[in-house]
Amino acid sequence: MPHARLSLDPAFVVAPVSRHTFGTFIEHLGRCVYGGIHDPGHPTADEDGFRGDVLEFVRDLGISTVRYPGGNFVSGYRWEDGVGPVGDRPVRKDLAWHTTEPNTVGVDEFMRWAKKAGVEPMMAVNLGTRGVQEAVDLIDYTNGTGGSFHSDLRKKNGSADPYDVKFWCLGNEMDGPWQIGHRTAKEYGRLASETARAMRLVDPDLTLVACGSSGSSMPTFGTWEREVLEETYDEVDLISMHAYYWEEEGDLASFLASGVEMDHFIEDVVASVDHVRAAMKRKKRINVSFDEWNVWYLNGDASKNPTDWPVAPVLLEDQYSVADAVVVGSLLISLLKHSDRVASASLAQLVNVIAPIMTETGGRSWKQTTYHPFAQPSRYATGDVLRIEAQSPVHETTKYGAVPAIDSVATHDPETGDLVVFAINRSLTESITVDVDTRAFGALRLVEATQLSNPDPYLKVTVDTADSVAPVANPNTSWSDSTLEVVLPPLSWNTVRLAKV
Ligand code: AHR
Repeated sequence: MPHARLSLDPAFVVAPVSRHTFGTFIEHLGRCVYGGIHDPGHPTADEDGFRGDVLEFVRDLGISTVRYPGGNFVSGYRWEDGVGPVGDRPVRKDLAWHTTEPNTVGVDEFMRWAKKAGVEPMMAVNLGTRGVQEAVDLIDYTNGTGGSFHSDLRKKNGSADPYDVKFWCLGNEMDGPWQIGHRTAKEYGRLASETARAMRLVDPDLTLVACGSSGSSMPTFGTWEREVLEETYDEVDLISMHAYYWEEEGDLASFLASGVEMDHFIEDVVASVDHVRAAMKRKKRINVSFDEWNVWYLNGDASKNPTDWPVAPVLLEDQYSVADAVVVGSLLISLLKHSDRVASASLAQLVNVIAPIMTETGGRSWKQTTYHPFAQPSRYATGDVLRIEAQSPVHETTKYGAVPAIDSVATHDPETGDLVVFAINRSLTESITVDVDTRAFGALRLVEATQLSNPDPYLKVTVDTADSVAPVANPNTSWSDSTLEVVLPPLSWNTVRLAKV
C-alpha cells in the first residue's frame, strides 16, 4: 500500500483560524429564501415564518457570516422594496434570474433570521443599477441610531436597535458581462471608492469588500484587480474572489485536484494585490474575501433560467456526490492553508441553491454530501492553522499534471492542546497509509478519526438516503511513538482529532 508522511509542529503557524472562513451565502434565488429559510406554512415555522428544521441545521453547521441578498440579484435590487408592511411591498421582476420577487422577505426579516441563527450578516449593496445614495440610505437604515429618516424608518418598522452590520460588499461580480450594470474596472473602481467613502461617513467602523474577478478564467483577471485597487486601495479592506468548480465531466482525476486550482488562484490574486501595494507605496495590506466558492453543475437543467417569471422556482438545485464532497473538503483545506491572506469566505449557497442543506417546500429537509466537509472543520478548527510538511504519492491529472494524492491542513489550539488534521485522498483506486508525526506536541491521545468515502464516487443522497454518506469512524488507525498511522481510503475526506493527555 502506498505511504504518505505528514510532519506537524506547533511552530508551523500560518495564521490564527479565522471564524470568518466558515461563512455562507443566502441569495434571493430559486428556493434559497422562499421555501428554504422562509416557509410560513411549514410545521416547524416560527412566528416569523422561518423554518425551525433549517435553523437547526444552520446552527449545527457552525456558520459565522451569511452574505445577503446576492449575488447577481443584488445588482437590480431596491432594498426599500423589502421593508415596511408586507402587504404594501411591490412585486418586481428579478432580471438576474428571470423570476418574480415578492419581497416578502427583506432586510428586517433577514436580520431577524440571522439573530435566530446566531450568524453575522454580511450585506451587499447594489452598484449595478444604483449607487452612492442608495448605499448610504441602506447603511443608515441598518446602522443609524435614530434621528434621521432611514434610521427612524427602521424603528417604525419594528427594530428599535441598530443592526450594526459591519461587513459590506461593494456590489457583486461587476467584471461579469452578465451582471446588471456591468462596468469596466476603472468605472467600477471609481464608484466603489466613492460609495465606500460615503458609507464610512455614516459609520466609520466598517469592513468593506471591493469586487475582484468572478473567476480566474475571466479575460480581465489580474488587470481588473490592479485597476480596481488603484482606485479603491485606501478605501477598502478586502478584495473578493469567486470560484466555482464545474461538475465532473469525464475527468474525475482532474476534478479532484480542484483545490490545486484554488491554491493558484488565491496566490495570483494576492500577488496582484501586493503589486498595487508596492506601486502605490502603501503599508496597509489588502486581504481576500473569498465570498463565493463551491462545486456547481452549471450545465445541468437546474441552472437554466426560466422563461415565465415564476416565484421561487427550482433553480440551481444541484444534488451532490461523494466526489463533490471530497472536492468541497479540498477547497476548504485550500482556504485554511491561505488563512494568512484569506480573511473570510462564503460557501455559496446555504439552502437549496447549490447548497449543503436541502428542503421540500412545506416538507422534509436533509443534508447533502457536501454538508460534512464543511461542518467538521467549522466545528473543530480552533486556535492556529498549521502548515503541514507532507510527503505524498502523486496523483496524475490531465489538467494539472502530477499533484499530491494526499492534501491536508491542521489546526492546533495552544490553549486546549487540541490538534486536528483534515485530509483528502485523491487516489481513485488506492488506500494510502498516512503516518502523522506529532512528536513536537508532547503526549496526545486520539479522540477520533473519521472518513467519508464510498466505492461509488458518483453516489448522491436523497431525502430518504441522506445518512448513507456521512463521516464514520475510521477502523484503520494505530499509535506508536507519537506517530499516528491511519489508512485513508481512495477518494475520501478525513478528519483526525487529537487531544492533550
Ligand atoms: O451563487 C450563484 C451566482 O454565482 C451568484 O448570484 C453570482 O454572484 C455568481 O455568478
